[in-house]
Amino acid sequence: MRDGLGRSIDYLRISITDRCDLRCVYCMPAAGVPALEHAEILRYEEILRLVRILAPLGVKHLRLTGGEPMTRRGCLDLIRELRKVPGVESVAMTSNGILLADQIGEAKAAGLTALNLSLDTLNPDTYRRLTRGGDVGTVLRTLSRAAEAGIQTKLNAIPLRGVNVEELPSLAALARENPICVRFIELMPLGCARDLTPVPTVEVMEHLEAAYGPLCPDDAVRGHGPAVYVRPEGFQGSLGFISALSHEFCGHCNRVRLTADGSFKLCLNHTKGTDLRALLRSGASDGEVEAAIRSALAEKPARHNFREALADREARRMNEIGG
Ligand code: GTP
Ligand code: 5AD
Ligand code: SF4
Repeated sequence: MRDGLGRSIDYLRISITDRCDLRCVYCMPAAGVPALEHAEILRYEEILRLVRILAPLGVKHLRLTGGEPMTRRGCLDLIRELRKVPGVESVAMTSNGILLADQIGEAKAAGLTALNLSLDTLNPDTYRRLTRGGDVGTVLRTLSRAAEAGIQTKLNAIPLRGVNVEELPSLAALARENPICVRFIELMPLGCARDLTPVPTVEVMEHLEAAYGPLCPDDAVRGHGPAVYVRPEGFQGSLGFISALSHEFCGHCNRVRLTADGSFKLCLNHTKGTDLRALLRSGASDGEVEAAIRSALAEKPARHNFREALADREARRMNEIGG
């Protein structure tokens, strides 16, 4: 399916819960946030119905996000069912890697195609502070179990001024020693993240180049998102950069989102979209749902609005949108 600007949309990010077992400083306040009521969250049958409507329109790649997807009971069963939908080619997950540590075998058996793990530091104290309580050893266990299980895994690290800049080369070294991607993500000013200071990609690249030499472009396809990849000499894996602010990628955007409360979202930081939960629960037919999706898609914004001060900013937090 195409949006109003002719961009081909083949990727759906599905936030299946706003809950999380961590409280990363850039995502959630220390005290947490009132969780959505059970009835406000899309039921798995509703998600499956939407995917069955979207797949014939060309949506091939799915990613489960949260909150933390593994906090919702039955997450792996959902993956199994999503994999059965004709037209769906991949079902990936973005996770903090804590609850997954003991369920990698089950995730693989359910058909998880690929896994992105959030990991901003290897230092146990920094990790505990950043996530307000998490154990970095558990995430590393998930990483090695995922590799053993043959699940394609990438790491997501957000460079933060005054927090992890010095250790970015050590994070990158994980891609030298292992055939994985380590990605550096420019912090986007959404919710709690507005109180932190991002580090531009160009500066991250300078640190990495000083440590590992030239960052040669790596054109191998590694997922379906906006990252660009490089591979320094001697690396088994590669390094990726997701630079929404400094290298806007919206012209090639291929994605839409479903929030935990069932809103069809057209862009991360725009409020535009449509309430599919209300439509599904009003007894609408598949044809009516498809028509609502198509007319929303015609309105997909051309680009994000992180730089505009008074834009129609998203009030949802990252844990409800799923990144
Ligand atoms: P793959 O490349 O397919 O592995 O997925 P991905 O990188 O899109 O997924 P992931 O959930 O790991 O997201 C990584 C980072 O990219 C997160 O910070 C997301 O918020 C960000 N991101 C993903 N899609 C978009 C997008 O459309 N716009 C913006 N601005 N950021 C995005
Ligand atoms: N800016 C960029 N990335 C973010 N994430 C969470 N909050 C932000 C933000 N403000 C990332 C997490 C996770 C992914 C889903 O989104 O690190 O890996
Ligand atoms: Fe949880 Fe991910 Fe938000 Fe951290 S960034 S609090 S792991 S949803």
